[in-house]
Amino acid sequence: LSNGLARTPQMGWNSWNFFACNINEEVIRETADALVSSGLADLGYVYVNIDDCWSFATRNLKGELVPDPKTFPSGIKALADYVHKKGLKLGIYSDAGAFTCQVRPGSLFHEVDDANTFASWGVDYLKYDNCFNLGIPPKKRYPPMRDALNASGRTIFYSLCEWGVDDPALWAGKVGNSWRTTDDINDSWPSMTTIADLNDKWAAYAGPGGWNDPDMLEVGNGGMSYQEYRAHFSIWALMKAPLLIGCDVRNMTAETFEILSNKEVIAINQDPLGVQGRKVQVAGIDGCRQVWAGPLSENRLAVALWNRCSKVATITAAWNALGLESETHVSIKDLWQHKVIAGDAISSFSAQVDAHDCQLYIFTPLTVSLSEE
Ligand code: DGJ
Repeated sequence: LSNGLARTPQMGWNSWNFFACNINEEVIRETADALVSSGLADLGYVYVNIDDCWSFATRNLKGELVPDPKTFPSGIKALADYVHKKGLKLGIYSDAGAFTCQVRPGSLFHEVDDANTFASWGVDYLKYDNCFNLGIPPKKRYPPMRDALNASGRTIFYSLCEWGVDDPALWAGKVGNSWRTTDDINDSWPSMTTIADLNDKWAAYAGPGGWNDPDMLEVGNGGMSYQEYRAHFSIWALMKAPLLIGCDVRNMTAETFEILSNKEVIAINQDPLGVQGRKVQVAGIDGCRQVWAGPLSENRLAVALWNRCSKVATITAAWNALGLESETHVSIKDLWQHKVIAGDAISSFSAQVDAHDCQLYIFTPLTVSLSEE
């Protein structure tokens, strides 16, 4: 969507994966505080996104959405002011249907009123869900909210949460700044790997202004190992997925912070070229030895060796799979070990990768000029 936003994938936090409906304004304020004090905000995590359950069960007499007075007594405008003072942005949630998934009022047929309400509160981001949609096709339900947001006088990021039902990658580029390509993620290895594969299919449709969304991060929620979370974060970064933290950042472990704060991995996600990396090579039983890669600015490549087998394995990336001419010399930086590991690999690169772990590299081709030798 050409509203000037999402030149790179959005980064921030969302309440759903950890808190579900157990949210209130303290949680949102304390999360904003923690994003700033931990340093995550400075690394780019600026959207503080409230998901389902912020709204009261019914509209007011004027037909407006109202925050739940028990959990958000100060109102959304006060929260927006609070996060804005910290240099952050506030996101909210509604639904392109009669109700939200947790049965709060939906915005279908209330698009203009609700977009104006969100704008008047100072909201910067809308996640727009797909429950209770009355069987009306998404292509009819999502554009009216885009138009209402555009007409609201405030620039608001528009995140489609259509779950990939009607292949949104094929039509949502003109509708939203990102579109979910899959059903909900859960905090497990089978869910994360399945979703990565589903999202990969739509790589060609992502780019500045509109991104494929394989759902929010589960890093730090406890259901996967350190290696699995590192793989999750590496692949989401490489796939140009939104990096929306889904854990309780007020109580992160050092390991969780280490993963989420890796600057070089974030830089792959935020690279200005904006090309979604993809699965380029598979080997082994069920294709569990995988290479994922994609181009970066300045002629560099992001390369991930992802071991989805249950045992340690050696994974080899061949130059032709990466789109490199054979005999090209490259320098290789390991983004999790934080070191340059090979000065001049020339036809393939192999490394041993632990079970379910993922190693992530930047390959920089070296231009060797014969006349200088
Ligand atoms: C379904 C969405 O896909 C989730 O991300 C979350 O927003 C829930 N609905 C909230 O009810």
